[in-house]
Order: sequence, then C-alpha cells, then structure tokens
Amino acid sequence: DASDLEKGTYPYYMLKEIDEQPAVMRNIIQRYQNAEGRLTVPEELVTAMLEADRIHIVACGTSYHSGWVGKHYLEKIAQIPTEVHVASEFSYNPPLLKGNPFFIFLTQSGETADSRQVLVKVKEWGYPALTITNVAGSTLSREADYTLLLHAGPEIAVASTKAYTAQIAVLAVLSDALGAKIGHDMGIDMVHELGIVANAMEAIIDDKERIAELADIYLPNTRNAFYIGRGLDYFVSMEAALKLKEISYIQTEGFAAGELKHGTIALIEEGTPVLAIITQADMASHTRGNIEEVRSRGANTCVFAMDGLANDNDQIILPAVHPALAPLMTVVPTQLMAYYATLHRGYDVDKPRNLAKSVTVE
Ligand code: G6P
Repeated sequence: DASDLEKGTYPYYMLKEIDEQPAVMRNIIQRYQNAEGRLTVPEELVTAMLEADRIHIVACGTSYHSGWVGKHYLEKIAQIPTEVHVASEFSYNPPLLKGNPFFIFLTQSGETADSRQVLVKVKEWGYPALTITNVAGSTLSREADYTLLLHAGPEIAVASTKAYTAQIAVLAVLSDALGAKIGHDMGIDMVHELGIVANAMEAIIDDKERIAELADIYLPNTRNAFYIGRGLDYFVSMEAALKLKEISYIQTEGFAAGELKHGTIALIEEGTPVLAIITQADMASHTRGNIEEVRSRGANTCVFAMDGLANDNDQIILPAVHPALAPLMTVVPTQLMAYYATLHRGYDVDKPRNLAKSVTVE
C-alpha cells in the first residue's frame, strides 16, 4: 500500500526514522536560523519566557525523557529554574505554583490526552504555555499560546526516535535564543555544534553493522538489562531503556550510575547486561567506578564512550561532540541496539504489542 511505498527500501519505519536524524538536525538549524545566521524563536515567546521565574515541562513517554535534557539547557543556558513532569501525575498531584510559571508541553503528536488535560488546566489558571510538537495544527498546538515545530517529518514507527532528537535540538535552539537575549550562551556556537552533531550521527549510522553485532553479543537471550550513566548520560539511559523494553520486551532499567549500589545492584548476576554511557568528563571516572562494581559482580558490561574519554577496551567509541549536545548523538546507538535486539528476536519492530503511536485516552 501507499504507506509501504514511503518506507522505500527500508524493512521498517524505525530504521528509516533513525537514519533521517542527521537530516532532521540540519533541517532544524535551517528552519530556526535568521538571515544573520542566528537561531531565533518569535520575539513574543522570548519575552514571555524571560518574564517567568520557573518553567514546567510536561510530557509523556519519550517526550518526557527529552524534557530532562531540555531542563539542563533551560537552566544552564537560559538560567531559568525548570521542572519536568509526567503529565498523568501532574493532573492529580500538581506542584506548588507560585510567581510566574511558564509551561512547555512536549508532544510529538500534539494529541496525547494526558498532556492535553494539563494544558486545559494551565489555561484555566491563566498561565502561558508553549507546545513543542511535530504536528502543525494539532490539538495541543492550537490550545497553547505558542508553538515551535520539530520539522522532523511524519514519525510512523510506534517507538519514537527522530522526534526525541528533534525535541532536544529545538529545546537547545530555544535555550540558545533565550541565552542570547540575556547575554549568556555557555560559549556554545549552537549552529556550529548542531552541525557537528549531525555529522556524528551520520558516522554512527554508517557503522550500524557494528551495533548489530553488539546487540547479538550483549542482548542475546537475556530477560533483563540495564543502561547506566550520570548527568546527561543518565537522561539518555532512561530513554535507551524505554526504547529497548518497548520493542524487544527485554525488561530494562535506565539508572543513575551512582545510585545502583543503593539497592538495584542486588539484581546484577552472572551475565546481566549493563550498558554504560560516558560523555561527561567530570563524571567519567565515577561512572567507570560503577562499571567496575557491576563487572565484579558478574555483569556483562558494554561501554559507549565519547572520543577523548574512551579506553581501548570500550565497545563503542563515539565521535566527539560538544558535551552538552552529547545526548543527541549517544541516543542513536541505543536506538540501533533496540532495533537489532528486536530484529534478532523476530518481533515486529514498528508495531510492538500493547502500544499505540498516540494515546488519546486518559
Ligand atoms: C505514546 C507512544 C510513545 C510516546 C508517548 C507520548 O505512549 O507510544 O512513544 O512517547 O505516547 O507521545 P507524544 O505524541 O505526546 O510525544
């Protein structure tokens, strides 16, 4: 049928959408760049956000995970305290709202009922809201005061890939635009650095056979697995774990590397796969310590480390990018790990059981 034609030579939409990510990064740069080459968002949005004393990001699923990376940018670059909420929890257990809160709804589809329910309340309370979405004219876009589009093209596979990286890139663009206004940019030339990220993604995708091999070695017949990391690498670990469990049905936890020892390490036994992400220089040796802790208890460890922080015996050495933008790049091999682990198990990558692309009921 027509939808199969769009897949072209790809066996699954998920692989096509993983492959599209470098182009999506370049498209986002282009769409948000002004004539002088600076990244910009509408001036009214900048003004409204700089009046806020706190930002609340509200989202579900994969979008919730990109929210954590967004919090890092909004706090570090735009200097605005930011909280991240699961939409279904916010609805019945909202945080204390004081002063001038500003809301950001992250939603690929723009139709998720749990997120919409919060937006309806936020508008009743009279607070300003921005929706970051892939779908122009979607419900959450229409009902918010502001919209920023992901420009990622339609995402068909149930497991979200390019929308996650597009959300992070748009949050980086937004933070950069806010930072420029207040004269604070962390020394990042965002256009340049996002371009480097696109090239790094491409290099990883070109080498996907290597990830297919690793999926065979580390995730063969296992029932469970762990992703660990610290800081931004922890946020990616949460998304990496979600991706793996969604489509391969391997029970996977994304864990803060230093927190494992406070309980969860009890689950490590002979052969348990533990995949570790290392991209942040100030935390690298600490994460390495945590890798040793689980290895000495029998874990089968697989290390994804960024060039410059890598050891010779690490399984994957990722191209160097600006450390703040590392999540955009490190998530790609984890998407591919999930894809190949699922292929090897013989499941339908694009249509995992029990899941829908967009959940429009509470
Ligand atoms: C569903 C999908 C997830 C997605 C979540 C949020 O549960 O299966 O992949 O992350 O909804 O979707 P949204 O469109 O709001 O980003």
